[in-house]
Amino acid sequence: MPDQAIDTLLSEERRYPPSPAFAAQANAQPEIYDLSFEEFWEQEGRERVTWFEPFTELYRWERPYAQWYLGGKLNVAYNCVDRHVEAGNGDRVAFHWEGEPADDRRTLTYADLQAEVVRCANALKELGVGKGTAVGIYMGMVPEAPIAMLACARLGAPHTVVFGGFSADSLSDRLNDMGCTVLITQDEAWRRGAPVPLKRTADEALALSPGVTKTLVLRRTGNDVPMTEGRDHWWHETGSEADCPCEPMDAEDLLYLLYTSGTTAKPKGIAHTTAGYLVGAASTHHYIFDLKPETDVYWCAADVGWVTGHSYIVYGPLCNGATSVMYEGTPDYPDKDRWWEIAERYGATILYTAPTAIRAHMKWGPEHAAKHDLASLRLLGSVGEPINPEAWVWYHEHIGGERCPIVDTWWQTETGMILITPLPGITTTKPGSATRPFPGVDAAIFNEQGEEVGPGGGGYLVLRKPWPAMLRGIYGDDARYKETYWSKYDDVYFAGDGARIDADGDYWLLGRVDDVMNVSGHRISTIEVESALVDHHDVAEAAVAARADALTGQAIVAFVTLKGGVDGSVEKLEELRSHVAAKIGPIAKPANIVFAPELPKTRSGKIMRRLLRDIAENKPLGDTTTLADPSVVDELRLRGADEAAKDD
Ligand code: PRX
Repeated sequence: MPDQAIDTLLSEERRYPPSPAFAAQANAQPEIYDLSFEEFWEQEGRERVTWFEPFTELYRWERPYAQWYLGGKLNVAYNCVDRHVEAGNGDRVAFHWEGEPADDRRTLTYADLQAEVVRCANALKELGVGKGTAVGIYMGMVPEAPIAMLACARLGAPHTVVFGGFSADSLSDRLNDMGCTVLITQDEAWRRGAPVPLKRTADEALALSPGVTKTLVLRRTGNDVPMTEGRDHWWHETGSEADCPCEPMDAEDLLYLLYTSGTTAKPKGIAHTTAGYLVGAASTHHYIFDLKPETDVYWCAADVGWVTGHSYIVYGPLCNGATSVMYEGTPDYPDKDRWWEIAERYGATILYTAPTAIRAHMKWGPEHAAKHDLASLRLLGSVGEPINPEAWVWYHEHIGGERCPIVDTWWQTETGMILITPLPGITTTKPGSATRPFPGVDAAIFNEQGEEVGPGGGGYLVLRKPWPAMLRGIYGDDARYKETYWSKYDDVYFAGDGARIDADGDYWLLGRVDDVMNVSGHRISTIEVESALVDHHDVAEAAVAARADALTGQAIVAFVTLKGGVDGSVEKLEELRSHVAAKIGPIAKPANIVFAPELPKTRSGKIMRRLLRDIAENKPLGDTTTLADPSVVDELRLRGADEAAKDD
């Protein structure tokens, strides 16, 4: 983030104290911050989940690996589904599901959810899934996605959910890395009125993933899709209501892997285990969203393919017995008021979304929300990227009617749960600040030398103590785990984010400090996009940097040198963008491509990424003395400016 923008942020003077009425009824009361680290997590471990066998040791910290709730036995699906039915809440709605096509709706109670999870678990059993079998899930936003996840958890089969917007290559890489033998998918998904061919993409992926020998296919759109005899099985033709007990799992058994981008081309399989993850997701969900399961209608508008969907659509809310809204499609289909129509229909009380979505609604104008009665809303949340104060204030005014507290929640795929956040009813919020570490979270900001900086300072966000939902490693790659998170400082988790702390001790997250970009709240590594570009037969060399973007937070700029004789035409540009979409997924498409005869390199031949970032951002260039050929930069600046003009 440019220094000037940081100064503007930190001079933000608006304050939003909690209302006495909200504070009086809040799940979080001020004493929560008085509990010690051990007291807090001990209490949460006992209160949020039901154990088959209680834990005997709170945590063990063999740096850099932590284990939590040792000795405990439990099952995540039992906690998220069965125990609510057993407690007499089977009639409570678990999901108000809204399909994208008009009037396509379903309501699932907890009893319905239990029946569906059991059916799916039995179907998986028929396909040979048992404790420890790795299962891939490649689906859209249908109730069967959480059902599939919970069915895996019921059997003790770890899953990896792959976002439905990812390409066949991305899907197959993940299935192969985890060693999946079964894939759950669907014929097609609906998106902006058009079918998304998930099964077809899955078929392409499976051609590269011979380890997957069985699939379970949900019929969603009903259009014809090819089924491979012996391998592919229809969801509705498999499974039964026969009893399917919940497998008792050890606290530290693997629950799932979720792949995320790091600073190399290969995504990392972030490992989350059973007990600590569930306690962390449920505890944060209970206090931060102030959930009252009997009366709230909670809506997390993320996709289950991302960690936000895992922790705050599926595991946290269901563990807490929440009634949720789940929506299949895009916010502007068929009209730009679709979200607000849904919020009004179900009487949503809590809404959790990303700044990029809020900025899109801002751009479309407040009149779309104004058409609907949003008086039921009582709490708003934000996640995924720094929220700019204008978007925060717009959200507060036009969606929250100036009465709803906003929780700006900082966390990561790796952290599994929210770590820095206001607590509604307690925290006085400031637009743009995620405010404080959650109770039981020991965060700090360190300078380059590893010293903690105090109020007024800035540096890198770190975590000094483990937390229950923290990643247990990168699947199959201990060295990378240590290198990525634990090598910058001794025994301290380095998050990869820059942060400032203001005079009141509130945190302001400033974005990534590594080669990870954040486009519309999605993590993409520069090197992943570069690899996709150089995979194209006409590309000799490529380097990628991010620039600020008013809508998507950051946008991808690619600098590309074509092979001799190839023309940098508009058609070529589109071809390269499509190539990246096909290799990774549409989210990774560069917004701009600058064709250049050469990329700026040091005399030893290294691409100078810092310079490219400055060029992409249109910033003054720092030291260029190490450049092998300084004229390359002038050329790029000229071309970069041309490109930027074209994009607008
Ligand atoms: O840079 C931070 C940003 O998103 C990164 C984590 O991305 P991912 O693992 O995809 O998880 C996104 C959803 C939890 C972080 O390193 N980030 C996330 N939330 C915020 C944020 N940046 C600023 N403020 C936030 N509230």
